[in-house]
Amino acid sequence: MNKDNNQDVMILAIESSCDETAAAVVKNGREVLSNVISSQIELHKLFGGVVPEIASRKHIEKINQVIDEALETAGVTLDDMDAIAVTYGPGLVGALLVGVAQAKALAYAADKPLVGVHHIEGHISANYIEHKDLEPPFLCLVASGGHSHLVMVKDYGCYEIIGRTRDDAAGEAFDKVARAIGLGYPGGPKIDKLAKEGDPHAIVFPRAKIADSPDDFSFSGLKSAVLNYLNQCEMKGIEVNKADVAASFQEAVIDVLTTHSIEAAKRNGIKRFAIAGGVASNSSLRGRMEQACKKNGIEFYHPSPIYCTDNAAMIGAAGYYDYLRGIRDGWDLNAIPNLKIGAR
Ligand code: KG4
Ligand code: ZN
Repeated sequence: MNKDNNQDVMILAIESSCDETAAAVVKNGREVLSNVISSQIELHKLFGGVVPEIASRKHIEKINQVIDEALETAGVTLDDMDAIAVTYGPGLVGALLVGVAQAKALAYAADKPLVGVHHIEGHISANYIEHKDLEPPFLCLVASGGHSHLVMVKDYGCYEIIGRTRDDAAGEAFDKVARAIGLGYPGGPKIDKLAKEGDPHAIVFPRAKIADSPDDFSFSGLKSAVLNYLNQCEMKGIEVNKADVAASFQEAVIDVLTTHSIEAAKRNGIKRFAIAGGVASNSSLRGRMEQACKKNGIEFYHPSPIYCTDNAAMIGAAGYYDYLRGIRDGWDLNAIPNLKIGAR
């Protein structure tokens, strides 16, 4: 493929931090030429959650195929790329290693720069793909299976976590409650769907506030309250209305996420607010956030669901800005399962 403009930066991005093997070709950080995702959900469903060893094996099996498809769909070759970006943390170490090793091999063979990308910075950067006008500074709520963070995006590549969960992540709470009411894995989308048939005010579940840290979250008390409610119903022989439990639980999570986010935005004089991560694809959360932002004169941004859950296009978006900042990794790039956000 001929580059239509020599200034264009083409990135091949690879993501394998959890249970999706993904590759994408992204032009100038915001234009997605291909976005291929091979999900392992059906496999992990059998075990009620992600089995790390199985995830790594499946990534090895799929990664070449996914990368070939990403290049083919975009109508490009490895030679057309300006850099190879890859998630190197946080995530499951064995899963991350598959993507990192593959990216290193391709970068070495094709003599291309290698750029290691932070997974959560990728989730945040997913917002750049469909909102060409979005630029830092903005505040972002990242709610995924492993994280619930309020992140101040001060500039490209410059992040500060102003709030975080003290225990469970929001997505983790969705998954655990879904399991308790027999919906299976992954719980988020199933609760989202079932909640539409239930009454969000049927059961009042607790909304945790942390006294000295208004921007922090806690979801383990809420999860325990749901489990206690289910146990009590069982002991008393009361039939559980699962749709009401799903709707009331979801209402409590959304209430906390929205209230904390808006309060933090107001306290920090923020005019632009974004959401990211798997939970950001929740239909009620999106609606509620949109309303709350509107009411407070804040511009609201959210990615389409396909860019909320794990994908490589978001890694291409973040990788582009890392590339422009001069980030280059060597052949010693390693997977870092607990990598800190804004580490460089
Ligand atoms: O970002 P993600 O794909 O992977 C991680 O980096 O963790 O997030 C996965 C999480 C899971 O906990 C899943 O249940 C949740 O996002 N999730 C949802 C929805 N779709 C996915 N939670 C609530 N509502 C949804 N529609
Ligand atoms: Zn993720």
